[in-house]
Amino acid sequence: MENTNKDPKEVFEGYNEKYDEKLMIDHDYDGIRELDNPPPPWLMWLFYFTVFWALGYAAYFHFFHVGPLQAEEYEIEMKEAAEKYKTNDAETKSIVLLTDEASLNAGAATYAKSCADCHGPEGKGGIGVNLTDDKWLYGNSVKNVFETIKNGTSKGMTSFASLPDDQLMQVTSFVLQKLNTAETETDTTDNTEN
Ligand code: HEC
Repeated sequence: MENTNKDPKEVFEGYNEKYDEKLMIDHDYDGIRELDNPPPPWLMWLFYFTVFWALGYAAYFHFFHVGPLQAEEYEIEMKEAAEKYKTNDAETKSIVLLTDEASLNAGAATYAKSCADCHGPEGKGGIGVNLTDDKWLYGNSVKNVFETIKNGTSKGMTSFASLPDDQLMQVTSFVLQKLNTAETETDTTDNTEN
């Protein structure tokens, strides 16, 4: 090629005297010569940084297992959630119908305060459904009713998870034994409050 030995100043626009000896690489490939044009330092440092980062990352997660991997993180979070929203069997087994007068009175008080606005003072319904009949959307076992009250529903029943389980148990017992007069095994000896 003709321009093989041209002055670099002529071929390279950004030519700078100070890089002179560094710029032109020694090799001569069939008349083709090459300028040494390395990437800028900031880019090289960024590159080295990513390499070190990768080493640190691999050591942290894979070689020494300091941090949890995705799958472990998932397990941990699921465990935390299970703790937080205790609805597993072990927990629900302790849900029982309370029959003593004190508990039922406490349930009545909670009902009047938190439920009557929607379900009516006698549980005959209003904004909320009738709680005195034999129609149950979510089942009428103690556990079912307890969980409906505790968790609420997507169709307007408020969640009362903020109340302690004991109080929920009282109001559940009140609903089932005092409000509900349908064919459930309700208290037949004392219906005076209905
Ligand atoms: C904001 C209004 C509102 C309040 C407050 C409310 N409920 Fe409800 N409740 C509803 C509605 C609406 C439904 C029907 C939900 C559905 O169809 O999913 C319902 C459903 C229920 C059910 C399920 C009935 C069935 O057929 O299975 C029970 C039990 C219940 N409520 C009890 C209570 C108790 C106890 C309280 C007070 C601690 C309460 N509710 C407070 C609106 C309310």
